[in-house]
Amino acid sequence: MKKKMTITSIKKSKAQKPLVMITAYDALFARLFESSADMILVGDSLNMSFAGKSDTLSATLDQMIYHTNAVCQGAKDSFVVCDMPFGTYVNKDEALKNAIKIFQETPADCVKIEGGEDKAEIVKHLTSNGIAVCGHIGLLPQAFRSEGGYKVKGKTEQERDSLVADAKAIEKAGAFCIVIEGVKADVAKEVALSVDIPLIGIGAGVDVDGQVLVFSDMLGLFEEFTPKFVKKYLDGASLVKEAVSTYAKEVEKGEFPQEIHTY
Ligand code: KIV
Repeated sequence: MKKKMTITSIKKSKAQKPLVMITAYDALFARLFESSADMILVGDSLNMSFAGKSDTLSATLDQMIYHTNAVCQGAKDSFVVCDMPFGTYVNKDEALKNAIKIFQETPADCVKIEGGEDKAEIVKHLTSNGIAVCGHIGLLPQAFRSEGGYKVKGKTEQERDSLVADAKAIEKAGAFCIVIEGVKADVAKEVALSVDIPLIGIGAGVDVDGQVLVFSDMLGLFEEFTPKFVKKYLDGASLVKEAVSTYAKEVEKGEFPQEIHTY
């Protein structure tokens, strides 16, 4: 069993040892992940892989609270990050009210907010009121509709400069770590070197301070699409389908249950 990470140990891991973050949405999977992962993210990606929607935007605060409680129940010794869903941090007062609700109704260790310089004031308001914040810069899934799709960032000089400025602003506002998503690897490296807090990458190359993957992607359970940055460590969908098909055939043929499954 890994020792539970803290804000201090996460910050100290910068340039020491890569952080391992994975998403989970329920107690069952969280329990399976806790011995290997440093941090478990209850991502609003649950709206896609768990709730079957086409983007993350309709995830609600109540949904995030429900799933965060399930994850914390399954992984009692893990550092748990709860995503603040779209529309719950439109200004600093709303953000604080909703982050307090998360902290009061779940044992989550921190919240995660998408955005850079434009969200620095909100991050500062949360951190100065006792809410630990993980930032999220680069490709922002909550901007899927406004940007017309998922856009890899860091392709121009201007994007590179603004990513560095985003990371610095979020760090200055008191965040203890930042997720950087969908960014050209050389730019992500430069961003990681520009701040003293860990940068956890997803689709951002290897030269950052840790990695995060959506569990249903890396276990090969989510079949709709596979982003380039995902490595499938298991062909989960095929294995599950094969198992359920074998069960169905055995039931239909009267081969299950056998003597050993019978009282
Ligand atoms: O919601 C999520 O799972 C995330 C990851 C993509 C980092 O934010």
